[in-house]
Amino acid sequence: MKVLVFGSINIDLLYSVDHIVKPGETISSSLFAKSAGGKGANQAAALAKAGLPVYMAGKIGTDGKFILELLESYGINTGRVIEYGGATGQAIIQIDKNGQNSIILYPGGNEEITIQEVQETIAGFDPGDIIVLQNEIVHLKLIMEIAKKQNMRICLNPSPFNEKITLLPLNLADWIFVNEIESSALAGLTPDTSPQDSLEKLTELYPSSEIILTAGKDGVFYGFGETRLKNDIVKVPVVDTTAAGDTFTGFFLTAREKNMPIQQSLSIACKAASITVSKKGAMESIPFADEVFE
Ligand code: RIB
Repeated sequence: MKVLVFGSINIDLLYSVDHIVKPGETISSSLFAKSAGGKGANQAAALAKAGLPVYMAGKIGTDGKFILELLESYGINTGRVIEYGGATGQAIIQIDKNGQNSIILYPGGNEEITIQEVQETIAGFDPGDIIVLQNEIVHLKLIMEIAKKQNMRICLNPSPFNEKITLLPLNLADWIFVNEIESSALAGLTPDTSPQDSLEKLTELYPSSEIILTAGKDGVFYGFGETRLKNDIVKVPVVDTTAAGDTFTGFFLTAREKNMPIQQSLSIACKAASITVSKKGAMESIPFADEVFE
């Protein structure tokens, strides 16, 4: 079994600020760092650090080569990452004093992937292999359709959520990972809907998908068929929440592929995410398997 992460690769530009800048305001940052990120690359890192064989696919400029080196240092096969003449995607991230973030994305190479590149990338994967997708690259619908035709299992994290998501064949996904904001939007409910109610609606709308809903301090919720589970988060001092969701996705999938029960997999993923939020940065703050699995 192989895992293909077809997703974004971003240069993260991190600014520590007292509070997220308001309209018309100019504020100073107490710390700046440039680091490796992108939801796709972070999830690939989490899956590989957790112990699965991972292939990364995406598109970068020469400015993003340091990210490939880092992915390779985690044992990830980067042979399907295409280099082009333009810029790598960028994420401008403000982190406030409570560790909460706010992100501006510049797509760069993530939106330069062509249909032919999509077709060539997925060829060669086998039935039962997993493809992991987020919403920071183009051609997601086509990718999902080709992957399903090849009988790959599809893991979708529809993040960041926008109107493009509603046009996707979500019923093809074997796993859908959402946070509380994405879950109510996807379920067509108001933003103040409880995670439990959003989960019920999503299990009804997508009965062949396992729904995993992360709800911040309220914990994580799981729904599939008649099964409903909940797990509390591991409380730690929060330094930076960036990549917490990516870590959760990578460790939950890995634990399930290692045949761990669902409840234990939720607990493992919560523990991994708690380590990520206790450090600054995205990909580099994701823990390795020996820090998480007992
Ligand atoms: O999920 C965190 C990631 O979102 C960051 O690394 C940033 O690149 C954005 O894509």
